[in-house]
Amino acid sequence: MIYKIAVDQNKCIGCGACAATCPESFEMKDGKAHAVKATIEEISCEKDAESGCPVDAISVG
Ligand code: F3S
Repeated sequence: MIYKIAVDQNKCIGCGACAATCPESFEMKDGKAHAVKATIEEISCEKDAESGCPVDAISVG
């Protein structure tokens, strides 16, 4: 199974929660979160990061 990881740059407010929760898949650059990889094959912490984002900027699917 392939999962796409995306961060909506227009929504992200740079709170950093995703990078703290799931550093292997989210990194901060210039005050916004970015997916480390566009796709992953196994979900570990990514769903936690998705549900933890205060502005729903993350999609994992
Ligand atoms: Fe941005 Fe949400 Fe992460 S606001 S820094 S995508 S937790």
